[in-house]
Amino acid sequence: MGNAPLDELKKRQDHIEAMGGKKRIARQHQAGKLTARERIQVLLDEDTFEEIGAHVQHRSTLFGMDRAAVPADGVVTGFGRIHDRLVYVFSQDFTVLGGSLGEMHAAKIQRVQDLALKAGAPIIGLNDSGGARIQEGVDALNGYGEIFKRNTRASGVIPQITVILGPSAGGAVYSPALTDLIIMVRTTGQMFITGPQVIKTVTGETVTAEELGGADAHLRRSGVAHLVARDDGEALELVRRFLTYVPNNNREEPPILEIDDALDREEAYLRNLVPVDPNKPYDVKTVITAVLDRDSFFELQAGYADNLVIGLGRIGGRAVGVVANQPRVLAGTLDINASTKLARFVRFCDAFNIPLLTLVDTPGYLPGTAQEFGGIIRHGAKVLYAYAEATVPKVTVILRKAYGGAYLAMCSRGLGADLSMAWPTAEIAVMGPEGAANIIFRDEIAQAEDPALARHDKSQEYRDQFASPYVAAQHGYVDAVIDPRDTRAHVARALMGLFNKKESRPDKRHGNIPL
Ligand code: HXC
Repeated sequence: MGNAPLDELKKRQDHIEAMGGKKRIARQHQAGKLTARERIQVLLDEDTFEEIGAHVQHRSTLFGMDRAAVPADGVVTGFGRIHDRLVYVFSQDFTVLGGSLGEMHAAKIQRVQDLALKAGAPIIGLNDSGGARIQEGVDALNGYGEIFKRNTRASGVIPQITVILGPSAGGAVYSPALTDLIIMVRTTGQMFITGPQVIKTVTGETVTAEELGGADAHLRRSGVAHLVARDDGEALELVRRFLTYVPNNNREEPPILEIDDALDREEAYLRNLVPVDPNKPYDVKTVITAVLDRDSFFELQAGYADNLVIGLGRIGGRAVGVVANQPRVLAGTLDINASTKLARFVRFCDAFNIPLLTLVDTPGYLPGTAQEFGGIIRHGAKVLYAYAEATVPKVTVILRKAYGGAYLAMCSRGLGADLSMAWPTAEIAVMGPEGAANIIFRDEIAQAEDPALARHDKSQEYRDQFASPYVAAQHGYVDAVIDPRDTRAHVARALMGLFNKKESRPDKRHGNIPL
């Protein structure tokens, strides 16, 4: 005896799970892409996916849509677990009308956005879509508006993660842009507001889709992407790794991992890392990896504004956000791109209870008309705003140069560092020795027999007097001058000393960060 209702359910389920059919699935695989459903299986812990709205269908009738079969309306939605923690997910199905977004497709995404916010769980969007469903017109546009609104509402409450695994064009790029993290797959993931053909028509420029909106363009040039993966599998693995550093929502602490790495691990080579010559570079990542738990550094936006390094890591199994000037690139100066990179990361960490560790070695802001006309004043102000606004524990270690406004900006005590330490090689002063000598000894240098020699001598005099951590330490702006070998131990203790820190800010509707 058959069971007609169950048979009917099975028939419908088979139709839904067949997605856009064998031919289109084969085309998806040929392009090196997984299907929407395969991606969810790879992303989540085994057998944890619970689908929502599989039977949802569009309601449009125009342009032959009344006869179109659109399984799951082109997007698979639901929840599941990653490292046994609840997450919500939507995965656009390019085999069904190119993953295009119509009214009901959008409604399914909104539904998981609403549930994720209510449940206080991260949401992960797997994007692979031709954009607004052309047959649905303004209903599709409205759907995007509803999604953007929810992205903004959830911002700073639950982590929102985007993976770009196919096209993402036009206004469709703005939901990803409103999220906390964008991971792009090289060669298949592409994002742009207007595509190559429109650009050719309007400006006459010739550019390929990959050059314009591929993963490397967005990692290195625009700063839109945080991470790039070689294929779908690697991108989904990066999502799983990212989640090990962040809590489920802004009311929770990040997960604590068991680690086997002594907090007082000594790193003797740090004593000789900073070159005697102040103009010689070194790699600040050596310091970062020495201080963090082994293999825990997860760099973000590597390739963009490399004069500043940002990333997540762990100390004693607890998450920490690291910000560090990189003396190897542009001498570690702060410029517009480094400022926006820094400020957004600091605000992300602050939103999700991740303490901040700042490693300082910067000669100052990058000089030049391009920087001034580009708005370094308002972009640089973001750094001050973000650090001063942040209430998570803030620990600063000054490694070498900390001059002028850049000393202040890099989470100085005055700006709000809870604890500030310095290596004996630190040079904390209002400006660099040469610049300072040129101003305060101007007449003496001009009148000297050998001005170059006089400038050198006077710079040295200034350096001996001020370019050390001790004046700042005497005045209480530096809490401790530490042996570089023991940096990890000191930072770990500082973070432990601040673990239960609570700090509040005046009530306001919201601040007005310079944009
Ligand atoms: C409806 C679409 C579609 C769309 C693709 N398809 N995009 N259907 N609406 N926006 C369908 C195709 O008709 C095709 O159907 C299938 O998806 C696969 O598309 P192909 O073109 O065969 O794939 P491919 O060669 O890989 O090219 C992918 C593509 C291209 C680059 C995305 O399809 C494309 O340019 N699409 C249009 C993109 C676009 O202009 N979208 C609107 C952007 S404006 P069959 O049946 O043949 O498989 C926008 C505004 C949002 O999004 C504003 C928000 C504020």
